[in-house]
Order: sequence, then C-alpha cells, then structure tokens
Amino acid sequence: MRMKLLAIETSCDETAIAVTEGLHVLSSVKVTQEIHAQWGGVVPSLAKRDHEQNIDWVLQKALADAGVTMSDIEVIGVTMGPGLAIALGVGIAKAKALAKEFDLPLVAVNHVEGHILSSLIQKDSLAVQPDVHFPALAMVISGGHTQLILVERVGTYRIVAESLDDDIGEALDKGARLLGLPYPGGPALEQLARRGVAGTYPLPLPMQGQEHNRFSYAGLKAAFSRLVQSLQTTSELSDQQKSDLAACYQEMVFTHLLRITSRVIDDLEVSVSDLLVGGGVVANSTLRGRLGELATTKGLQVRYPEQMVLCTDNAAMIGIAAGFKAERKEFTPAEAIDRRPRWRVDEL
Ligand code: KG4
Ligand code: ZN
Repeated sequence: MRMKLLAIETSCDETAIAVTEGLHVLSSVKVTQEIHAQWGGVVPSLAKRDHEQNIDWVLQKALADAGVTMSDIEVIGVTMGPGLAIALGVGIAKAKALAKEFDLPLVAVNHVEGHILSSLIQKDSLAVQPDVHFPALAMVISGGHTQLILVERVGTYRIVAESLDDDIGEALDKGARLLGLPYPGGPALEQLARRGVAGTYPLPLPMQGQEHNRFSYAGLKAAFSRLVQSLQTTSELSDQQKSDLAACYQEMVFTHLLRITSRVIDDLEVSVSDLLVGGGVVANSTLRGRLGELATTKGLQVRYPEQMVLCTDNAAMIGIAAGFKAERKEFTPAEAIDRRPRWRVDEL
C-alpha cells in the first residue's frame, strides 16, 4: 500500500515535518531551536513557543519540497510521546486540526519506535532496506534514551536494557559543559576528542564486572566532574588537556555502552543478526567505528541512519513508523490522541 503521509514531530527541541509515501521519504524538514543553547539544556516553555512560531512554515516547506499539497495527503502521523508534554502538545494540536480540516485519519507514533526504524532509511533511495531479519536488536541512544530493545517484528518491542540514571546523550552533554562547550555538547565533544588521547587520565568504567542489562552514567559523570575540578585548581585547562579529557570521557561512555550491549546480546534467548541503531549519539563517527567492531565480533549486521540529520530527531522516522502502522490499519481516533510524556515503546 502506498499512501501519502504527513508526519509531525515536536517532542523536544526540533520542529519537524516530513512527507512520506509508502516507505519512501519525499521530504523531511526540521528546525533545531537554538534558543536553548544559552540555558545549557532544553527549556520546555521556550520549546513550546518556538514550535508554535515555526510549525506553519515548516509544514509549507515540507509540502513544497515533496511537491504536494494537503489535498494529496491521505494519512497524518504524529508523535504522541515520549517527550516534553507541552512541546508534544503543539504537534498534536496541529495534527488534529489538519485531520479535521482535510478529513484524514490519524496515526499516533511513539518517538522511540521512530528512532528504531530510522536505521532502515537508505541513503540514496530513502526507502526502507528490505533485507532486515527479525527478531533484531535495536539500540536507541539519545539525550533522553539509552535503551536496547528486542524487535520481534516491526510494531512488537521489548525493552531488554535501559539506564538506571542519566542517559548517554545527557552524560555527553554534561561532560561537554564541564569543558566549557555549548549545548548540545555531543558533537563538540567529539571534535575536541579527535585531538586528544584516550587513557591519559583515569576514569572509572561504570558497573565493571557487573555488566548486565542496565546502563549507568551518573557515577562516571561525577568522577569526570571531580577530575576536571582537580586539574583546574592549579591553573586553567590547556587546549591539550581539554582534548585529552574529552577523549578519555567519550571513550569511557562508549566502552560502557558496548560492554553492556555485548553482554545483552550473549544473554538473549533468541539469536539476532541485525542491530538497528538510532538516536542523536549515533551521529558520532568514533562510535560508528566501535559499533562496526562489535558487529564483526558478534557476527551482526549493524545499521544506522547514514545521514546525520536522520540520527537526531526528525519527522521522516515518524513517517516511516506511521506508514507501517497505517498498513496494519492502526489508526487512532482524534479524541484518543493525547500527549504521553512517558510512553514506553513496549506499551504500544
Ligand atoms: O535524538 P536526539 O536529537 O534527541 C533526543 O531524543 O534526545 O539526540 C540528541 C543527543 C544530544 O545529547 C546530543 O549531544 C547527541 O544526541 N549528539 C551526539 C552527536 N550528535 C548529537 N553525541 C555524540 N556525538 C555526536 N556527533
Ligand atoms: Zn529523539
């Protein structure tokens, strides 16, 4: 079935709208709100205000880029959660208003399901890769998520590991902030780490020897904070010190991620041959390299969005998830769509 679908995503600080058809992405537009940088993190009320200011022109651009008008659209998909309640509300209100005006069915999408399926979008054709084997293991790593999810098939998910405290992107952002880098810190920390040497400074590997199905970044972050402070007591950090610190911290963050993942793969009661990775942190090329090594050791095919813009929040992934749901006729009446800030992907 090939339906033209309009997808809306406003769960955090990206106002994003895409047009998809079947499993192809016809357009994907997003505005990343810059207002939050000065606060060092996303401020919900400012996110809501910016979404409201931008959503109409983002919609017009998404339609124009796809070469369609609203009368060509057959289904509307919208992120219902998880995310910031008042930010989600802006996209949901827009989706409902358009559905009413153009008499269209609605599909409610889980943001984490979007990240899982984003790894299936191919670079050139932007069509979903056909050769994925299920069950597969998914890894969603972003500012708000650190989860390993067993994907029995598209639409059926079971969370097999998640974070006890901070999420991985949050840990990178906070570490970056300690080195004076702007929010979001992940990309800047990656740049800085390129000039540094991992292993220069000692940092504790979280849960060493107790790797099971839980991630934990709070202890590492606290140790990093103490290390930075101790080096700063005598003098300002030099550029080389900052680079080495970035490299050491990033290395530990990723080593923990991969050790838990390796353990979870060994402990799964089913064997998986595909690892589907989504979320902003997989934009990191050092991590991509290390995922490649894990894939070789475990005999896995690792897949992540080749385009960086599809790693961080976007509406194309919401359109792909909505497309699968529309094929299964999983529409949601407008009155049943409400923001679900803590909606887990295994409660679909
Ligand atoms: O998926 P995303 O846009 O939003 C959430 O759902 O949270 O992910 C944002 C996170 C931020 O923590 C950001 O620092 C991180 O992804 N990130 C990166 C890189 N690009 C974005 N982390 C490490 N390396 C990168 N290149
Ligand atoms: Zn996200």
